Amino acid sequence: MAVTPARTPLIAGNWKMNLDHLQAIAFVQKLAWSLKDADHDFATVEVAVFPPFTDLRSVQTLVAADKLPLAYGAQDVSEHDSGAYTGEISGAFLSQLECQYVIIGHSERRTLHGESDEVVAAKVAAALKHNLVPVICVGESAEDLELHGQAAVPVAQLRTALAGLGSAADIVVAYEPVWAIGSGQAATPDQAEQVALQLRAVIADSLGQDVAAKTRILYGGSVKSGNIAGFMREPNVDGALVGGASLDITEFSSIIRYQKHVGL
Ligand code: 13P
Repeated sequence: MAVTPARTPLIAGNWKMNLDHLQAIAFVQKLAWSLKDADHDFATVEVAVFPPFTDLRSVQTLVAADKLPLAYGAQDVSEHDSGAYTGEISGAFLSQLECQYVIIGHSERRTLHGESDEVVAAKVAAALKHNLVPVICVGESAEDLELHGQAAVPVAQLRTALAGLGSAADIVVAYEPVWAIGSGQAATPDQAEQVALQLRAVIADSLGQDVAAKTRILYGGSVKSGNIAGFMREPNVDGALVGGASLDITEFSSIIRYQKHVGL
């Protein structure tokens, strides 16, 4: 018996630094065909892709020309609007490319590029200023897990990221345990649910009950077609942020269509 979820699930593919703009066009076209062939209902499960910056104009053109029901966004945004910030990309530019979303604070940005919780908070504010929905990533490392348990670090990260936002903020939160990213070792659905529950409480605390009730909290870290169903059965997990498996059309389509192959 299908259960209607409280929030529209979102299955998002973070391509990371994969696929150039020509590959992106072919990939998005094939993904859209594959989902169309399978009669995927985009109103029931929303689909978004996050290509590299250099692909976004091509993806925009394709999505607009073929009226594809896919959302897309960037993998990062500058906290600044414009100016002498070599290599940075303004939220204003992403808005012009009709991005709906932007990933902020991915663990690879935090660890490889030294992004602090404060920088993440500034980027979240910049995204909202430019009408982009930030997909705010939080998660603990294996060391954090051992020292502080599972929820302490993501809860603290989210608290800082939301500080100072108004209660009208339209956001998505992604819980991605660092130890689960690209490791083949996903969290259990119950672990994801427990952390999601605490993250929802932080949202309620910072932005109010209404925002907490409508905000989607995704799980990310070694999501595949074989384990997505378990996560989607949890009441506080509203979708997935998929890395490696989002680069394989059959696998990503199967994750998107989890309701069909698991009878949810
Ligand atoms: P994997 O799905 O490859 O583990 O990556 C998860 C991720 O980092 C998505 O943002």
